[in-house]
This record gives sequence, C-alpha cells and structure tokens, in this order.
Amino acid sequence: MKILAIESSCDETATAVVEDGRHVLSSVIASQVEEHKIYGGVVPEIASRRHTEAISQITTQALAEANCTMDDIDAVAVTAAPGLIGALLVGVNFAKGLALKYDKPLVPVHHLRSHIASNYITYPDLKPPFLALVVSGGHTHLVEVKSYTDYRVIGRTRDDAAGECMDKSARTLGLPYPGGLNLDKAAKNGNPSAYKMPHPHVEGAPFDFSFSGLKTFVINTVHNCEQKGETVSVEDMGASVINAVVTCLVGNTEKAALELGYDKMVLAGGVSANSVLRERMTSCCASHGWQMFMPSLDLCGDNAAMVGAQGYYEYIAGYTAGLDLNARATMPIEEEF
Ligand code: KG4
Ligand code: ZN
Repeated sequence: MKILAIESSCDETATAVVEDGRHVLSSVIASQVEEHKIYGGVVPEIASRRHTEAISQITTQALAEANCTMDDIDAVAVTAAPGLIGALLVGVNFAKGLALKYDKPLVPVHHLRSHIASNYITYPDLKPPFLALVVSGGHTHLVEVKSYTDYRVIGRTRDDAAGECMDKSARTLGLPYPGGLNLDKAAKNGNPSAYKMPHPHVEGAPFDFSFSGLKTFVINTVHNCEQKGETVSVEDMGASVINAVVTCLVGNTEKAALELGYDKMVLAGGVSANSVLRERMTSCCASHGWQMFMPSLDLCGDNAAMVGAQGYYEYIAGYTAGLDLNARATMPIEEEF
C-alpha cells in the first residue's frame, strides 16, 4: 500500500511516498532554515507563506521520484497537529484538496506519533510495545507505546522542552539558528563540568522534566559575565548545558524503564540527533542489556517519510478523516482526530 505523506507543522515543507509504512520510495524536504536564520528563530507567518509556495512543487517531485502518479497512491496522510497553526493549515488544506480531487482516503497524523514512527523506517523489524523518549523543539515526552495507535504519556516537561532549552542557550551564546545543532557542534570539545548547572527534578513526579531553570541559568550567567567584562567559553557552557539536559533525559528514561519493566527503548524527535544524547542513551541501555532504537540522522528532524510510516498504521487501524478535518495547534498524543 502506497501513502503520499505531507508535513508542514513548522519550518520544513516535506512530502514523501512510503510503501507499507516501512519503505521510503521518495522523501523531499524544502527547508526554510536560511530564511529564518536572519531572525534567530522560526517566524510563523513566513513559515506559512513558504509552505504555500513550496508544497505543490515538492508533491509533484515526491511522486516523480517514487515513479508514481496519484493513481498509484492508496491514501493521503498529513500532519494535522500539533504545530504552528498557520503552517499546519497549509498541509491539511492541500491534503484535503488531493483527497477530494483523486478520491483518496485522508489520514490525519499526530506529529509526535510520526516522530516515533521514523524508527519503523530505520528498523523495519521494530514493533511496539516499547518506551519512547520524544524530544523535539516544542515537546519532551516519555511515552509508553503500547501499539501503533495506543499511547500513554508517563512523563512530560512542566515548562520548556529540551529543544527550547538548547535553542535559547545557543542563541544566548551567540550561535546561529538552528541552535540545537550548532550547540552540539560547538560543544564537541567542551568541558561538561566547567559550569555547575542546576539539577532540576519535579517533586512527586519522578518521570517529569523541567528545563526552564537550566535555560535561565545560561542566560543569567552569560549576561553577568558580559556586565563584568568576562568572556564565557561557548564550548564549555555548551557542553555543560547539554550534559545537564541529557542527564535529566536519560535519568528519567532509565527510572521509568526499570519501574515499568521495559527492555526496549526508542528515541525520537529533532533533539534525538544530539550526539551526547545518542551516546549516553546507547550506553545506558547497553549497561542494562536493553534494546535501543534511534532514528537515522536524516530522519530525526521534521520530514514526511515518518508521516507516511505512521499514516499507514493509522489507516489500517481505521483512523481516517472527512473533509471537515481541521488542524490543531495542540493535541495530546493519546487522542484520535
Ligand atoms: O522535531 P523537530 O525537528 O521540530 C519540532 O517538532 O519541534 O525538532 C527541532 C528541535 C530544535 O529544538 C533543534 O534545535 C533540535 O531539535 N535539534 C537538536 C539537534 N538537532 C536538532 N538539538 C540538539 N542537538 C542536535 N544535534
Ligand atoms: Zn518535529
């Protein structure tokens, strides 16, 4: 079964053709990074406009690269929540138009479910149940994935996402957008113990996270140093904040796996590209003899192949939508459209 998938939740316009949820026949990404770089972050209105300009052309391209026409496509899957509402609407409306014109089923996909599904492409034999750590620019969730369409969130951030903490730390240190990636690179040879970082934990909720204190610590330290005419080592501060974030992420995941009896761990979301997180999660799982899965680097960030992968499982579970489908800026991962 072939799915045409569309993603436009943030600053990448992406389309893909995916067969049976696992085989990527084509995957096209029109990135807006260069444009948002000037502003140091994503400007929602610009993102929506660029999606509108790119979506038709990259859909044609994804079909051509997969050697398909719309006649070969069995369903159209689209990211419908959560994300920037104006950006999501571009993809949802385009997908509705295709579904109507070509008389295809329309499959709405939750963005975080699709991040988890990027692992089904990287590991064709991976099946739920497992425990997933989903870390993106806007979300930090520990999720029990009981089946392809059944989820239970057991831990979440109480304030900022891990990606937000990395991005704002990077910006404060003078690194260009996209912050997380540049912080990872800049911190490669830094000393992770150079700065004494706060160790946030949420009282009474051992699997929850809190990253706003870490972000504030970086901002205050950098500003205090500037006022005193002192310089901050970008590589040492970068390494220290990454170490603090990763320690929380891996620590809570380990606690949850031990308490709930999981031996299969999955990483997902843009921050799963972080080199320190990948290393530390791998060694944590190895020390317990747990299986560890993480998306290949090209599938960590936003893309449509992962939407096609999750869309397949949503479709076979019967979760299709009518032409009254609406995009939603927020939506729990447990809910159906
Ligand atoms: O999943 P994603 O592409 O978009 C959202 O759904 O939010 O995640 C984007 C986040 C950004 O915060 C970005 O800085 C972060 O992923 N990111 C990284 C790395 N690459 C991307 N964070 C840390 N280290 C990286 N190598
Ligand atoms: Zn994402």
